[in-house]
Amino acid sequence: MPAPLYDALVHHRNLGRSSFHTPGHKNNPEALPQDLYSLDFTELPDTDSLFDASGPIMQAEKLASEFFGTARTCFSAGGCTLCIQAMFRLALPEGGKVLCSRVIHRSAVNAMALLGIEPVWAMPDDMVKTLNANMDVRAVYITSPDYYGRLMDVEAISAACRRIGIPLLVDCAHGAHLMFTAPKLHPLAYGASMTADSAHKTLGVLTGGAWLNIGDERYAANAKSAMALFGSTSPSYPVMASLDCARAWLQANPNAFLPLQEKVAEIKELAQRRGMALPEGKGDPVRITLNTASIGLHGTEAAELFRKAGVEPEYADADYVVLIATPFNTEKDFMRLKNAIEGLPCGRPLPAHPPLPVLPPVKEGLREAVLAPSVTVCLSKAVGRIAAEAACPCPPGIPIVMPGELITKEAVEFLRRYGFLKINVLK
Ligand SMILES: Cc1ncc(COP(=O)(O)O)c(C=O)c1O
Repeated sequence: MPAPLYDALVHHRNLGRSSFHTPGHKNNPEALPQDLYSLDFTELPDTDSLFDASGPIMQAEKLASEFFGTARTCFSAGGCTLCIQAMFRLALPEGGKVLCSRVIHRSAVNAMALLGIEPVWAMPDDMVKTLNANMDVRAVYITSPDYYGRLMDVEAISAACRRIGIPLLVDCAHGAHLMFTAPKLHPLAYGASMTADSAHKTLGVLTGGAWLNIGDERYAANAKSAMALFGSTSPSYPVMASLDCARAWLQANPNAFLPLQEKVAEIKELAQRRGMALPEGKGDPVRITLNTASIGLHGTEAAELFRKAGVEPEYADADYVVLIATPFNTEKDFMRLKNAIEGLPCGRPLPAHPPLPVLPPVKEGLREAVLAPSVTVCLSKAVGRIAAEAACPCPPGIPIVMPGELITKEAVEFLRRYGFLKINVLK
């Protein structure tokens, strides 16, 4: 009988490429016990229940919380998406406004729409300034690190939040491992109130496993009910067990990221010697983000060449290739990656991108815009309409319009340059 998804996965495995993408376990048998399939149970008298935990799940979460130094840590088998939903619910149970960095994942936009929360948008470098001009917001929400591994100034933003007594929520989907780097770069160490950590992306955890990490005690008591509002009543036990195992592994191997940092530094030096630029500013020391546009190659073209060299990247766009390395990558993986980088043809840099248009005016609430009936129109017919979806060219990975915003002539021109042809607008 045909089983196309299963067959595709087997086919992909048989390609034998080195994984520089999620999940962080890299299918390495050293990351996780091999018998997780045989442990796919459900809520039974001796296996506990995720949203009503009083047995082994509660104990496993407590061990994680003690190890991470949090006020509370909750398991999620529904990815970081569930943790992001819970953070918004905990911080704004009655709705209201949140100051949001424009670098934002769609899970956060959808969560705000579902909960009737209204974003006030700011560019990542303008958070504190915009906060001072919008003192009626009830929380601040940022993404740090972002997909490219860039870190925000969490310390300055959390200090500004503390001054006016509001929480700082951090999408740390790509940074669960930053508790284990030297220096420690995790947002909780810099004053974040809560973080949503996709453990499955950068640690030895099965896909879907994530932690809601609560730093501020005030949000600890209601955490489970906030998670239960959105979570499936059938969370995967192997996924939850992998979160437990990953914590135990990290406790046994607390310095596992240090040799990885050295390896990644070598890779980055090699790429720079070959003419590739790296993102500027403070970043994740183990995220490998190569600007191949600086050697005349689109990131997507470079990614194809990497695949031919046996290396599967996490992501590629017009300018960048992003690779996720973890302690579960092997020496062979790094050797292949070095060869792949050395094999990239070097040419003249691609032309620079035009500056971003200014943020457009908001014409409709986020909830109304996301949930109201919409229609797809050609970009040329979109000027003056109200967006029903985000349009986000990469780079810069910053949405040019968000649901509810007016589609301006400048936005249309910008999007057209990036190959956008259509957009969803409100009817
Ligand atoms: C920045 C960011 N936030 C949140 C998420 C959602 O995480 P998850 O897939 O674990 O639900 C992702 C997923 O790619 C992401 O890149």
